[in-house]
Amino acid sequence: AKTRHLKWKVEYLHWSPDGVESVVMGINGQFPGPTIRARAGDTINIELTNKLPTEGVVIHWHGIRQIGTPWADGTASISQCAINPGETFVYNFKVDKAGTYFYHGHYGMQRSAGLYGSLIVDVAEGEREIIHYNGAFDILLTDWWHKASHEQEVDLSSNPMRWIGEPQTLLINGRGQFNCSLAAQYSNSTENPCTLRGGEQYAPEILHVLPNKTYRLRIASSTALASLNLAIGNHKMVVVEADGNYVQPFTVDNLDIYSGESYSVLFTTNQDPSKNYWISVNVRGRKPQTPPALALLHYPNTHISTLPTSAPPVAPRWDDYDVSKSFTKKLLGLVGPTNPQPPPTSDRRIILLNTQNFIDGYTRWSINNVSLVLPSTPYLGAIKYGLNGAFDQNPPPDRYNYTYDVTVPAANQNSAYGSGVYNLTFGTTVDVVLQNANAIKANVSEIHPWHLHGHDFWVLGYGEGKFDEETDVAKFNLRDPPLKNTAVVYPFGWTALRFVTDNPGVWAFHCHIEPHLHMGMGVIFAEGVDRVGRIPVEAMACGLTGKMLMNSNVRH
Ligand code: C2O
Ligand code: CU
Repeated sequence: AKTRHLKWKVEYLHWSPDGVESVVMGINGQFPGPTIRARAGDTINIELTNKLPTEGVVIHWHGIRQIGTPWADGTASISQCAINPGETFVYNFKVDKAGTYFYHGHYGMQRSAGLYGSLIVDVAEGEREIIHYNGAFDILLTDWWHKASHEQEVDLSSNPMRWIGEPQTLLINGRGQFNCSLAAQYSNSTENPCTLRGGEQYAPEILHVLPNKTYRLRIASSTALASLNLAIGNHKMVVVEADGNYVQPFTVDNLDIYSGESYSVLFTTNQDPSKNYWISVNVRGRKPQTPPALALLHYPNTHISTLPTSAPPVAPRWDDYDVSKSFTKKLLGLVGPTNPQPPPTSDRRIILLNTQNFIDGYTRWSINNVSLVLPSTPYLGAIKYGLNGAFDQNPPPDRYNYTYDVTVPAANQNSAYGSGVYNLTFGTTVDVVLQNANAIKANVSEIHPWHLHGHDFWVLGYGEGKFDEETDVAKFNLRDPPLKNTAVVYPFGWTALRFVTDNPGVWAFHCHIEPHLHMGMGVIFAEGVDRVGRIPVEAMACGLTGKMLMNSNVRH
């Protein structure tokens, strides 16, 4: 195993992700940030310098469990203090498991600002990859707004709240088209066809393939809001990996991907090699007001600029949840050494009801009636050093009032801010059931993809309506549930997860829709913090931990 040393500068750049010049948060002059490539067992060592003129920054390595290095998880107010302008912080962590991952900002809405990139981990040196392919491509999907993320933050936290609306553009590896359409010639509409030379920042991604080969396409979604569907014209895909874990292979024409998820699919280039084919990405689950993102699959017997003979593949209807659910339920774990079966029972079950609320007129999301507000001292240090003043010492509740009707807007729409922590006993098995409900507006319940830091979890089941502890537990899939780090909860439904508290640290568990997290949709889990080793002081130089460190320096 190797240590891979990287030196990164986070900075604002003028960039044209979709043909409209904007300001993006980039790394080393690039947008999206550089792709990290490593092998399982390698150590990643990133010296990250904050070149933003007036704001802090952190980077989270999404899907990397940070076993033994909880201070490298890159979550502001949770695992570390934000890195101040001009300062450098060293992220040092091991990538222990092969898979498709990505990284992104985890402070305010810096992910929406464009702070993200791919993180690809191949199998360890000398080990054989169990899936076979001749070549591979990485695709990072994101959504883009022309309004700057700072303005979005203010809009969302205003009274009354101003919703950010749908994204202007979907991006594939940071590339999309706003003022023109690559597919204009197929429609009767008045869309303006793109005239591109290929060197533009917003020129589409082109995947160069040879005929009769099998390729691995790694797909990750770091969208702020959009749930997506991806299809390759004329080509079937075999799903083989989800969130860094192998799944039982199954074939699809198109695949749904929620923010925070990653997949690998295999496709075979068995189509007419004198043509090119579209890869198209569409919005799911919200009424689409954003045109599809397009990339090109290029076979060698034709010119790159030859447009495919047929229109880009279309996604299932945006509100056809049956299609989405049937896809999600096809995901089953490939049980083996890296993908064990779950423990047959759990020691604790936490049922988390999400509701949309008003607190003093501000629109918020709450979990069991608590809307998360992050404190100024990172939880990791506060708990390790016993600084009880740093956050609410009352843990939030494990249950909601079971008489609550999830099918209609809440009778009482009030809720409370909170910063309390779920203290999980180290070395135990925990079930978490995500319970969806009607939002503020009648007949509205949204998709929420929930992401857990520090762990993979088994997805034991999905259901409609209210989760019933008697009957639904009996139906859990304990044989071959998929191991994931992000799982969706469908409108008016529930999703049940199980994980083992084997990784000392403080871990965020939250909706991966960035505006939802910004409006309080998350919880904090702490486990075995007394077992956490020495935390680098640079990670804790703020809030009450900062004060503590200052006093201890004075004494010495
Ligand atoms: Cu990718 Cu806490 O997020
Ligand atoms: Cu959400």
